[in-house]
Amino acid sequence: MKVIVCKDYDEMSAKAFEVMAEVVKNNPKAILGLATGSTPIGLYKKMIEDHEKNGTSYKDIKTVNLDEYAGLDYSSDQSYVYFMRHNLFDHVDIDLKNTNIENGKAADRQAECKRYNELLEKMQQDIQVLGIGSNGHIAFNEPGTPFGSVTHIVDLAESTIKDNSRMFASIDEVPRQAFTMGLKNIMNAKKILILANGKNKAKAVYGLVKGEVTENVPASVLQLHPDCTLVVDEAAAELIK
Ligand code: PGA
Repeated sequence: MKVIVCKDYDEMSAKAFEVMAEVVKNNPKAILGLATGSTPIGLYKKMIEDHEKNGTSYKDIKTVNLDEYAGLDYSSDQSYVYFMRHNLFDHVDIDLKNTNIENGKAADRQAECKRYNELLEKMQQDIQVLGIGSNGHIAFNEPGTPFGSVTHIVDLAESTIKDNSRMFASIDEVPRQAFTMGLKNIMNAKKILILANGKNKAKAVYGLVKGEVTENVPASVLQLHPDCTLVVDEAAAELIK
């Protein structure tokens, strides 16, 4: 795994943008695997700035997102489809028809997982952006998720519900379930770009980089990926120095 330690969030976002920009410039039809959460917002801001200043086009780019809360769709400002539009898609020239995310409001949840897995089989990510949870999760693959998992419905861990409650009016409003790409779908990406900042991520980053490869720390599977870059700030890198 390539590790790039940055002094702060801004530098982390700038370095992450360099990795992303190389993929988009080399292949204007690339398939980007994207993530939500507070970590990649700075990267998305840089992509928007670059689109505005340098005209980098996303018109032939396709995207697949990691996960979505079960029960929410674009009509909720807490949904991940809303997040993606607000933080990236509405500010670049991407065709929304080329963007993909699980349908949180699907009536038949198992059928929705199947649909998404079939889609991912046809859409190998040229790059997959990831954040990491304080418990070592990637996407909503909580500790104990099999490395061979594909898109599925998860019961969110209490720690994840607590971490994410900062985005909601109260903890009771955080959905208890989500759709998520599985670890196998993530590992299938040609390139992984994982970002982490802040000291509450230090333990998870240790598990990602130096810990045992174990299903108890889902991110540790990335040690087995042939092209994985971690961009991390000093606070989150504290235990791997
Ligand atoms: P965060 O979430 O970027 O909001 O910290 C990361 C994650 O839970 O994967």
